[in-house]
Amino acid sequence: MDLQLTIDQDLCVQCSACVEDCPFHILELEDGFPIANPKRVHHCIQCQHCLAVCPTGALSICGIRPEKSLPLPETLPNGHQVEALIRGRRSVRFYKPDSVPAETINEMLSIVANAPTGKNNRGCLFTLVDEKTSMDVLREETMEGLRKVVQEKRLSKELGYYRHMVSAWQQGKDIIFRNAPHLLMVTAPPTIATPEADAIIAMSYFDLLAGAMGIGTLWNGMIPTAFSILQDDVDMYARLGIPEDHVKGYGLLFGYPTVQYHRTVQRDQAQINRVQLA
Ligand SMILES: Cc1cc2nc3c(=O)[nH]c(=O)nc-3n(C[C@H](O)[C@H](O)[C@H](O)COP(=O)(O)O)c2cc1C
Repeated sequence: MDLQLTIDQDLCVQCSACVEDCPFHILELEDGFPIANPKRVHHCIQCQHCLAVCPTGALSICGIRPEKSLPLPETLPNGHQVEALIRGRRSVRFYKPDSVPAETINEMLSIVANAPTGKNNRGCLFTLVDEKTSMDVLREETMEGLRKVVQEKRLSKELGYYRHMVSAWQQGKDIIFRNAPHLLMVTAPPTIATPEADAIIAMSYFDLLAGAMGIGTLWNGMIPTAFSILQDDVDMYARLGIPEDHVKGYGLLFGYPTVQYHRTVQRDQAQINRVQLA
């Protein structure tokens, strides 16, 4: 395995921070400079910690140049800004019909690709319904499928409330998709280390980033439940091009909100189990 590790010896201050921070002890010093231990290179998970921790930008790995990284900490938002983002994000159930520009969505997804994943596996698939026409087809097929299930009395008792979604739809109310212009579903193959967690973390990061960009979101459990109701008739995941074996989770609707929130809600009581063992 070639890690393409290169050290600019004019920049390297021989601090050994890269050696110490490597989670798999792949790097070691030789004549004061880091090298990759050939017996350990196969453990590399390409986390790039060595590149990130180097104070002088002397280290390049996997063909990645340090000067292309964002400099830290000066580009980080402060605690108050992140607090406002976390406290201020709301579930948006009213959207403008306007699409979020494709370049904006692409940029958001490339930022979210930096979210942590177990063993740095980065196996998430970001399924995006970003065209209005496709979103309309998805909405109509789902609701028509549900209408049929209701009409044929095939709804299970626990999911009987989906009958109300169908009658609301027939009266022009979209309770499931909320007329949102876009849907994101992050799934992951079962073969990677932590598929459920990776997908949810990626969607959470997308959610917060969207909030910072004036884009509203709605986590959505009704869509996957609707898909499960329809599964005897149609595989909606296959319809969206999501591989059969992928671990599925929630949907995230998004778009520009028509509703504006002027203050945060207040639910600060965390249930804390503070451990003292000595
Ligand atoms: C995993 C998950 C699934 C959700 N599914 C739905 C849904 O299907 N429809 C909906 O209107 N809201 C849904 N919500 C939104 C919650 O109702 C909402 O987060 C909660 O009421 C708190 O409101 P807030 O997000 O504005 O703070 C979901 C939230 C989560 C976290």
